[in-house]
Amino acid sequence: MPTDVPAPPEFGKPAPYGQVSPQTLALLARRRSSSPQHLAAPAPSGQELQDLLRLAARVPDHGKLFPWRFIILQGQAKAELAARFEALARERPDPDKAAAVLFKLKTPPLAVLVISRVSDGPIPAWEQLLSAGAVCQTLLIAATAIGYGANWITDWYSYDPRATALLGLESNEQVAGVVLLGTPTEAPLERIRPDVDAITSYWTP
Ligand SMILES: Cc1cc2nc3c(=O)[nH]c(=O)nc-3n(C[C@H](O)[C@H](O)[C@H](O)COP(=O)(O)O)c2cc1C
Repeated sequence: MPTDVPAPPEFGKPAPYGQVSPQTLALLARRRSSSPQHLAAPAPSGQELQDLLRLAARVPDHGKLFPWRFIILQGQAKAELAARFEALARERPDPDKAAAVLFKLKTPPLAVLVISRVSDGPIPAWEQLLSAGAVCQTLLIAATAIGYGANWITDWYSYDPRATALLGLESNEQVAGVVLLGTPTEAPLERIRPDVDAITSYWTP
């Protein structure tokens, strides 16, 4: 699948501004996540994955901390991790359910774990976490824009300390998202959306 992801502006040079992008609007107006069971091979290629990560890492980030990192799961390594999660699932209070949801990790050919890493200092932890969420969403949008399907999940293994230890997470790190990627085999159906008027108010003095 050909991609044409422009290079970033040179550091310190003006970035484009004021450009209308109807294609971006069309994508945002109609984008949907793909169900994990409908994400098949081929996954984004190595070059495409590099492009996707570069785009996702351009999110707003107060303090230029880059408070996130990526862990890539694919091929045999992903299968091995899923097998180890399966063993952990047996020890959980809901073993059958915990094992069953692992299909979401096993089925798609590629998963990008977006790991939030919060550092001490003047920038509130909340803002660093929000920036990691922005990385996940940008990854979904970018993957959709180059023709792949994507889904942002977490599931129990993002929170289970034994699972996060297998992933090598430090004490200041959390899984912000498991972004599943692949080629969609079915069109996702539109889901219910909020009534934006109902959740919008105008502050008045
Ligand atoms: C932080 C976060 C965690 C999520 N975790 C899960 C999950 O563990 N399992 C799941 O089925 N969906 C999960 N979802 C929801 C899926 O991403 C869902 O498919 C998505 O909201 C569909 O909406 P869209 O079509 O607008 O992208 C999560 C969403 C977010 C934002």
